[in-house]
Amino acid sequence: MSVLRLENVHTFYGHAEALRGIDIEVTKGEVVCLIGNNGAGKSTTLMSISGILKPKMGSIYFEDRVINNLPPHEIVKMGISQVPEGRRIFPRLTIRENLEMGAFTRDYGRCPTGARQGGDRALKVPGLLSKVFDLFPVLKEREKQPGGTLSGGEQQMLAIGRALMSNPKVLLLDEPSLGLSPIIASKIFKIIREISEEGITILLVEQNAHAALGLSKRGYVLESGRIALSGTGQELLNNELVKKAYLGE
Ligand SMILES: Nc1ncnc2c1ncn2[C@@H]1O[C@H](COP(=O)(O)OP(=O)(O)OP(=O)(O)O)[C@@H](O)[C@H]1O
Ligand SMILES: [Mg+2]
Repeated sequence: MSVLRLENVHTFYGHAEALRGIDIEVTKGEVVCLIGNNGAGKSTTLMSISGILKPKMGSIYFEDRVINNLPPHEIVKMGISQVPEGRRIFPRLTIRENLEMGAFTRDYGRCPTGARQGGDRALKVPGLLSKVFDLFPVLKEREKQPGGTLSGGEQQMLAIGRALMSNPKVLLLDEPSLGLSPIIASKIFKIIREISEEGITILLVEQNAHAALGLSKRGYVLESGRIALSGTGQELLNNELVKKAYLGE
């Protein structure tokens, strides 16, 4: 069953057309990656899905419901959560507060730390928090420290943890390995695999095409706002064009 479907999506920045008719389909439980050079439109694709950008043409479906007319907070509520490029954690808030902000966007209650914890929030947040701490023990160890004291890799973990606090069905990851050492990056990829094994569907944008394709069931290659190629992770890894342009072989 398709969980996410983009049909002929065109997204603009002013008059500049960044996405020129994109078709992408993600099936429940899959890890699908989107690779492409700088400026190809990868982040624009994710921001179009999460509602930060509104496509001028085309449709985006989540479980067969059109979502491209909804505001971002409604899209989060439906179960799509994005980890933005560059992490964007709150450096002055503690690690725990950063995570609680992720639950706040899902609208479990009125205030992330306040007394008026209504509805689902009181029930769900502790469970989600302990799941995130299981996945990232380093966040538990340092939960009272400001987010800004974490290393780059740990901040990426915090950004992923924060997105998981909205209990998403679909996780959109924008270049999670950017700027990380190979060892830390491989740790992050291992965690992405674990998250997928929990049943969360993942759309992964990466410049590390090798690792991303290795992890993904299927992939799409984006070039200048168009899908140039698609296939299984293995097919793309063996594709001559992909090898030359994205794998440096
Ligand atoms: N805020 C913006 N205003 C105007 N043009 C933009 C804006 N953001 C992106 N663009 C343009 O839209 C196109 C797609 O950009 P996008 O950020 O989606 O690419 P990307 O594939 O994510 O690249 P990168 O690998 O550098 O993150 C590029 O031509 C870019 O210059
Ligand atoms: Mg980008």
